Amino acid sequence: MSVAKEQRPKKITTHVLSEMKMKGEKISMLTAYDYSMAKIVDRAGIDVILVGDSAANVMAGWETTLPITLDQMIYHGASVVRAVNTAMVVVDMPFGSYQGNSREAIVSAIRIMKETAADAIKLEGGSEIIESVNRILSAGIPVMGHLGLTPQSIHKFGTYTVRAKQEEEANKLIEDAHLLQESGVFAIVLEKIPATLAEKVAKSLTIPVIGIGAGGGVDGQVLVIHDMLGINQEFSPRFLRRYHNLYAEITGAVSNYIEDVKSRDFPNSREQY
Ligand code: KIV
Repeated sequence: MSVAKEQRPKKITTHVLSEMKMKGEKISMLTAYDYSMAKIVDRAGIDVILVGDSAANVMAGWETTLPITLDQMIYHGASVVRAVNTAMVVVDMPFGSYQGNSREAIVSAIRIMKETAADAIKLEGGSEIIESVNRILSAGIPVMGHLGLTPQSIHKFGTYTVRAKQEEEANKLIEDAHLLQESGVFAIVLEKIPATLAEKVAKSLTIPVIGIGAGGGVDGQVLVIHDMLGINQEFSPRFLRRYHNLYAEITGAVSNYIEDVKSRDFPNSREQY
């Protein structure tokens, strides 16, 4: 029997996110980097899937997000898009694919949109990259901003500690958020900044603000899936809530398998041809 049209879950678009902000409905966002995980996250009903350049850390084992390439982000993005029915899929532009100049930025963004079929791109920074943002927007590509702790600038910051605690940096962040909104970005991620500052920014903008380590006064939350599922055990910042201990679960299952193989319990007579 076919499902009635109105019962079918709605594809999340920039307009839906804007409506959610207006209604005060919080936006849920998680990262995913591959087909199987994206399918689970999408079917569970997430609003937005971010194909984050955190893939460099959790998928490839790099210390920072800098080494991941545009080709690698496109591979992850296309894998996620193939799995998704309703979530909005946002793909991170990797370090070096947009900072040089706006022409390089538009070429990179078009490659992402054409080769992944994602719904939007995300990039890090404010006034420094505004020309690139404008050029990408002028091609009709939805852009999500990212301010606060921007991991692609880790070598400038020197540490992953909370950003914008001082007035000067907080004021620059507020200015950048307004500049991005005026340019036409559809949402902004705020990472690891004081909750009061994040709430102030969210209240002063009409576009949704999605936080990670930015408190509860913003319009939505994002976490890295490997962190919230407890696959990644080494990363324990204060803002992280772990919803599962998949590291222990998988270790248990793998240990049982090894034991069954060694003891000749697996495969049994029903598990062969
Ligand atoms: O790459 C990523 O996962 C991100 C989130 C932390 C927002 O940018």
